[in-house]
Amino acid sequence: MFSIFFIYPLFIKSGKDLKVEINSTPGVYQMSIDNIIKECNELKKLGIYSIILFGIPDVKDSVGSDSLCEHGIIASAVRAIKETHPDMFVVTDLCFCEYTDHGHCGIIDEVKQTVVNDATLELSAQQALVHAKAGADMIAPSGMMDGIITTLRTALDENNFPHIPIMSYSTKFASAYYGPFRDVAESSPSFGDRRSYQMNPANAKEAVAESVEDEKQGADILMVKPALAYLDIVREIKNATSLPLAVYNVSGEYSMLKAAEKAGEIDYEKVMLVTMLGFKRAGADIIISYHAKEVVKLMACKGIQ
Ligand code: PBG
Ligand code: ZN
Repeated sequence: MFSIFFIYPLFIKSGKDLKVEINSTPGVYQMSIDNIIKECNELKKLGIYSIILFGIPDVKDSVGSDSLCEHGIIASAVRAIKETHPDMFVVTDLCFCEYTDHGHCGIIDEVKQTVVNDATLELSAQQALVHAKAGADMIAPSGMMDGIITTLRTALDENNFPHIPIMSYSTKFASAYYGPFRDVAESSPSFGDRRSYQMNPANAKEAVAESVEDEKQGADILMVKPALAYLDIVREIKNATSLPLAVYNVSGEYSMLKAAEKAGEIDYEKVMLVTMLGFKRAGADIIISYHAKEVVKLMACKGIQ
């Protein structure tokens, strides 16, 4: 039918033999590192060699210290995966919402109760180096801070990691579609919402400009997120830029199909495939999706690659 490059999201927690399914996202699990290693075997058997990692730390604090530490959950996971699966392409999501006690994507000004962009940039550079030293193959900043690509590119280049590409969550809208993800990643904000740093869904011009800006700053891959309600933006960005373009088929999009399947209301496999086709037709080169395993299985058995 068509070929597309998939990246599969994985959620890591500390512990042993942990595999906890989340109610709102059937088929998506929080896993301990040993189970993530086993999961990579399954993925490789299916031909999926790219994953994006989200860490859920034991301890959260105001600055997300666990994400800045070489022994934190994300660094430990990257090291363990690369040791056992050097052929796995490991992307790390770089943000603070899973690691902070307030659940926001950056450092908070306690008085104003808002995210402070520049303080967040500084710590983001530290986080990128922790990922790179652990062996990450690509870094994906998802916090929507201004200037993040320049900051990370400079930090990586100056510290002997010029070869590590950056996949920018370049056009990321504030969205209720992220609801189920926040259950899995335990990253709901404890106050307010993310509208001061994520984008307004009504503003198409700004949406395109943000991705164009990240291309200028040196991003290697751009992204639109969520995907389904924004295919017009995917096409516009594809036409306005020359980098590979990813879409994030987010948790809410996945959960809707799963719920309709469970209720017996749709032909799940067909709806899933046509959804993927829509992403591709709109201009996506890469799809980040919780459906990835099901899609490649289906495409393989039907011989429709
Ligand atoms: C946070 C982040 C979010 C997702 C990926 N990284 C959600 C948010 O902004 O709260 C959403 C992914 C999904 O819904 O599947 N930096
Ligand atoms: Zn975040």
